[in-house]
Amino acid sequence: MSTAPLVFLRPLEDDDRFRTTAWRNDPETRDAMMSYRLPVTAAMEARWFRSVLDGKRQDEVHFALAEPVHGACVGLTSLREIDQFSSTAWVSILIGDRAFRHSGLGKVALEQLMAYAKDTLALRKLGARILDFNAASQRLFQAVGFQPEGRLKEQVFVKGAFHDLLLYGRFL
Ligand SMILES: CC(C)(COP(=O)(O)OP(=O)(O)OC[C@H]1O[C@@H](n2cnc3c(N)ncnc32)[C@H](O)[C@@H]1OP(=O)(O)O)[C@@H](O)C(=O)NCCC(=O)NCCS
Repeated sequence: MSTAPLVFLRPLEDDDRFRTTAWRNDPETRDAMMSYRLPVTAAMEARWFRSVLDGKRQDEVHFALAEPVHGACVGLTSLREIDQFSSTAWVSILIGDRAFRHSGLGKVALEQLMAYAKDTLALRKLGARILDFNAASQRLFQAVGFQPEGRLKEQVFVKGAFHDLLLYGRFL
């Protein structure tokens, strides 16, 4: 039986932006991620990549989810709003390449991200903000030990209606 990892975290590389630009413009992904609503151009994505690669974003860290055969970027995961005083951060994750969804990658990636948050950044607690209709994400975060902590009613306008935003948390 193979023991090869399903996915590993690596730093973003400049070439990854050609994939991520397409993901950001996919309406379903954009809605699930609550991302920027207007079209994301190649130039905008290049600027964002530049700022990450130059280390200009001190309160966030971003990783590519790399498939083990070629190291190709199939998704992204991030810690955002890292608060060095409270030792907390918010997690986001996207398996951009749909062929890789629902096969356990999300769990493996979040376990690696949580280990990094605890052992390298000395974070104490992580949070996740998930829309009420996003069953896959709620299931994923619960599967790696996040607990529901609250609900912001009709917080986010997406898909033509106001949706509740669920707050999840996990102590590391
Ligand atoms: C949410 C997402 C990251 C899940 O990643 P994934 O690799 O497909 O998840 P996994 O295969 O590791 O599965 C983790 C758990 O979620 C469940 N799950 C995954 N996809 C599911 C789906 N579409 N519907 C219901 N449950 C699902 C799995 O059964 C598993 O639960 P279990 O361990 O209790 O059996 C992925 O679907 C995605 O990228 N979606 C679009 C972006 C997004 O919504 N990001 C989160 C924003 S908050």
